[in-house]
Amino acid sequence: MKTRLGVNIDHVATLRQARGENYPSIVDAANTVLRDGADQITIHLREDRRHIQDTDVEAVHLVTKKFGKPLNLEMGCNDEIVEIAVATAPSWICLVPEKREEKTTEGGLDLKNKANFDKVMSTCKYLKSKVEGLKISLFLEGDIETLTLASEMPIDAVEIHTGDYARAFLNNESYDSYLSQYKNAKIFLTSKKIGCHAGHGLTAESLMPLLENNLFEEYNIGHWIICQSLFDGLSKVVRDMVNCMNDYPYSLKD
Ligand code: PXP
Repeated sequence: MKTRLGVNIDHVATLRQARGENYPSIVDAANTVLRDGADQITIHLREDRRHIQDTDVEAVHLVTKKFGKPLNLEMGCNDEIVEIAVATAPSWICLVPEKREEKTTEGGLDLKNKANFDKVMSTCKYLKSKVEGLKISLFLEGDIETLTLASEMPIDAVEIHTGDYARAFLNNESYDSYLSQYKNAKIFLTSKKIGCHAGHGLTAESLMPLLENNLFEEYNIGHWIICQSLFDGLSKVVRDMVNCMNDYPYSLKD
């Protein structure tokens, strides 16, 4: 089975929103990512619309359809967003916790909290009843208690929050306990026929132990990819602009 890469392009929209311009284009980003081999596009429509806008969802969905690849729409269990998701009918929805004041999603859904559990359960049932063929993943921590609660829901996959693992890796701290937790999570989820996805904070380096240990079938990665693409693309952009200016030497005469 292919190990799949979903690229989260929220960060392209973050750059665009920072200046309020219509570039960088989220559609160009989606086209580039899929043309170059990614398996899906992931976007998070947040309540506060800090990066992805409603119109982006439709535009990116059209690109994914053109490539015959899935759109994975991340969202909180918020009524307004749920209706947008129903109207969009993406291939996948990943339900995540959402706090307005957070910089990014800070951890998995807390299913041990009964009110959260009930809200996530009813959102899953509603989405499944409204969108034919929809697949749902839940963004969760990898402990078995949480995964056991998740297995009661009508879901297709769990996306395990790898942010703490990735931070430990970057800080040169021991991360073996995360790997063994992920191994147990995979065994448990596989026994329940639930897919095992991963996401958050991963870099090319911190991805390696996860790949080497064959832990997940899908990875959703965004921030590092967009950051690294600066350095893999910056020199060409500067070179092109310098070459252009060299074609137009400045003269003191008109
Ligand atoms: N998966 C989920 C559920 C997320 O919330 C995010 C961040 O939006 C990602 C994956 C991608 O994380 P990162 O941008 O840190 O690679």
